[in-house]
Amino acid sequence: MSTTRKVTTTYMHHASWSALPKEDQELLKLAQRAARNAYAKYSKFKVGAALRMTDGEIIPGSNQENAAFPAGICAERTALHAAMTVMPRGQVDTMAIVVPQVKGRDPVTPCGICRQALLEQENRQGSPVRLLMGNVRGPVLETFSAESLLPLSFDSSFLRK
Ligand code: THU
Repeated sequence: MSTTRKVTTTYMHHASWSALPKEDQELLKLAQRAARNAYAKYSKFKVGAALRMTDGEIIPGSNQENAAFPAGICAERTALHAAMTVMPRGQVDTMAIVVPQVKGRDPVTPCGICRQALLEQENRQGSPVRLLMGNVRGPVLETFSAESLLPLSFDSSFLRK
């Protein structure tokens, strides 16, 4: 027998940054600022990320490209790996992502590889990573975990022999 199964996800849509608490607006601002340091020579698409650890520490990230295109890395993983390098036992509370040049449509959401990396982080720290995806002077999408952006995902349970 075959059945159709449905996966649903929940996220919040905020009309503007001002609908969020001050500390979230601050994090979005830092993500916006981090995009200035992107090295986006090839795509001209500058992405900024900023993550807030549960202890309040803030780590920025931006995309860093390479002439060998796949060697480039997204802003989200730049921030995440930088954080884990200095705080291997740290817990990410929230990550903000801003692409300042994207205007007049919904904010940019993380690519599949970054979703996978964020999911690994959730499993590593045993708690969800909240995501804020914002447009400058525009709406913000909020998810309560990375897992909610990656249904039917691959994780370490599949590696069991
Ligand atoms: N990029 C990010 O940094 N984050 C995303 O969420 C989407 C894509 C980067 C990768 C590449 O440097 C450029 O944006 C165009 O894909």
